[in-house]
Amino acid sequence: MTSILTRRRALGLGAATIGGTLLYAANSRAVSGSAAKTPWEWKEIQPESIQERAYLSAWEKIGCMYGVLEAVLGTLGDKYGAPYNTFPVEATVYGSGGIGGGGSLCGTVNAAGMLFGLFAKSQEDMFALCGEMSLWYEKAPLPVYKPKNPRQQIPEVTSVSGSNLCHVSSTRWANISGQKLLTPQHFERCNRMVADATVKVVSMLNEYSRGKMTYREKPNAFSEGCQACHGPAGVKANVATNMSCNSCHQDPHNSAKP
Ligand code: HEC
Ligand code: HEC
Repeated sequence: MTSILTRRRALGLGAATIGGTLLYAANSRAVSGSAAKTPWEWKEIQPESIQERAYLSAWEKIGCMYGVLEAVLGTLGDKYGAPYNTFPVEATVYGSGGIGGGGSLCGTVNAAGMLFGLFAKSQEDMFALCGEMSLWYEKAPLPVYKPKNPRQQIPEVTSVSGSNLCHVSSTRWANISGQKLLTPQHFERCNRMVADATVKVVSMLNEYSRGKMTYREKPNAFSEGCQACHGPAGVKANVATNMSCNSCHQDPHNSAKP
């Protein structure tokens, strides 16, 4: 409202201008339609400098997706203002627990995708960055981050999810750590992972914005084999995913058949 009034003043429009409603409408459209077009300009962040913020923000909402985005966009917003501070970060709490607790895509991978959506210069780049992040998440032993003042003590163990799904990732950690899920211990583990994923996505965006992005991840050998026939342009071409196949499938072609 303030900005609309300021604009009206700047344009020399009195509150009682005849036809004010029309002008107001036109004006408010200009203001509300002013969300900055993507791609936004990426400003380098020293990745480790925002780990603690990511960890603490994640605890604020028990929000993994939120934690990553709050740390990154919040840091940029504090330093540079718009457009970074115009993003409704609270809306991303939906990503918690694999989309509203559904155990689907991990919120940290979802958050990274959102950031690539804001900062990648083309759709092709955005897809490639999303793929890199997802494969990194599948393979990385997590969590690594040690908070300054941990809210909860948890066993110092890491697990490899082999999947970008919250369900698989969390349950593998539960089995390795001996902890129960949907407990403060589980959230501690996930919120430390938020710090790890934040470092990853910020490092990627730093590298990408310098024009020197190196894609390091590729599907595992098992999955590459399947994709040769089931992936795009294969004889079957009936599978569209870059998730590792072996988190759900065995090789049906090699098993002894009657
Ligand atoms: C050389 C090509 C080729 C490769 C490599 C291949 N597939 Fe297949 N796959 C096929 C074809 C063709 C069919 C359909 C005909 C059939 O059932 O044999 C099929 C069928 C399937 C089916 C459904 C039918 C069934 O038998 O259960 C599954 C599931 C499957 N493949 C998974 C995989 C996985 C997982 C891998 C990797 C480990 C893989 N495939 C590798 C060609 C391939
Ligand atoms: C998150 C688990 C998951 C992952 C990861 C996954 N799949 Fe599947 N896939 C399934 C499920 C569930 C079905 C459906 C099975 C059915 O309908 O009986 C399926 C179906 C298929 C089918 C068709 C089977 C048929 O009966 O025709 C093929 C082929 C297949 N997957 C291959 C792959 C390949 C190749 C990959 C890796 C690139 C992969 N899948 C990754 C869970 C998964």
